[in-house]
Amino acid sequence: MIAYLAAEGFENELIREVPDVEAVFGRLVLAGGACPAPAWAANIWHNPQRVEAMSISGAVRKLRSVQRNWAFYAPDLYRRHLLIQEQLPKVKIAPIEFLGALPPAQLGSWSLIERRTLLFSSRCSSPFPNGEVHMVENKIDPPSRAYLKLWEVFTAHGVRPQAGDRCLDLGSSPGGWTWVLAQLGCEVVSVDKAPLAGTIAALPQVRYIAESAFALEPREAGRIDWLFSDVICYPERLLKLVQRWMADGQAINFVCTIKLQGETDLPIIEQFRQIPGSQLIHLYHNKHELTWINLAANRRLPVRCAQAGNQECLGGVREVIALA
Ligand SMILES: C[S@@+](CC[C@H](N)C(=O)[O-])C[C@H]1O[C@@H](n2cnc3c(N)ncnc32)[C@H](O)[C@@H]1O
Repeated sequence: MIAYLAAEGFENELIREVPDVEAVFGRLVLAGGACPAPAWAANIWHNPQRVEAMSISGAVRKLRSVQRNWAFYAPDLYRRHLLIQEQLPKVKIAPIEFLGALPPAQLGSWSLIERRTLLFSSRCSSPFPNGEVHMVENKIDPPSRAYLKLWEVFTAHGVRPQAGDRCLDLGSSPGGWTWVLAQLGCEVVSVDKAPLAGTIAALPQVRYIAESAFALEPREAGRIDWLFSDVICYPERLLKLVQRWMADGQAINFVCTIKLQGETDLPIIEQFRQIPGSQLIHLYHNKHELTWINLAANRRLPVRCAQAGNQECLGGVREVIALA
């Protein structure tokens, strides 16, 4: 059995994504089958165990006997969860800095799925409680909060453009993503029908084009190391756009927000997943949207991949930690 904690509001999507669902407790989905990279999971509990816990002290004893660091998810009985957590060693996970180190210690997750039934997992995919990536925000420079999505990808998932890379930022207004890319020393071609904030448009390495993202001709764009899109559009339209840029071979790495509305259109998401090398993530900073990532040479996101238990990726994680 594996337990998956759904991103907030996406339990139904997760239930349809993971195989052999056995039980659901709030956002916690217990499943018989393994799903290597569920898009809708905020955290994966790799080795869940279910035990009887007749009392609060019994639950505390059990958890302490396994390891030091725990975070809880409460589908119900919040007060009872709190009484248990208060008797466990304090775990302080401060918001992380942009490109800062990830929390180092192994963090387990636990939950009372019934009043006297404790479910716990010592190994989880996310080093953050319930996969919530809180970051030290910059409330002064970026003109929108959308920058937090890129900060999360670059910091918590361990990939990012290098200084000097040529980036295309589609749907860029008012300029949060363009600001992040410029901070990294990238050369940014920033495209939106709406204008950039004045401070962003004035950055020396930013070139703004007042145009529809769909009107650009990939062959005329030259080499693009990274294509970013946060354009508000139907997923079908975004899919066609990235297919066009991939077919013309002008863009190498992609980070795109798939904007969803109403009932989630799972078949279209499946089409994104089918593109070789695709990785789909619901970031903590995503709203009703998913982030689609496709890296050069089908490279996997090192942190996410290792957290899913893939040993081959650990080298990549060390590299990320060393950089941080
Ligand atoms: C969520 S906002 C982008 C926020 C931006 N990433 C930031 O960090 O500030 C979505 C943007 O998509 C733009 N947009 C919508 N349709 C577009 C199109 N056809 N071409 C380019 N931009 C478009 C909107 O003008 C809007 O600025």
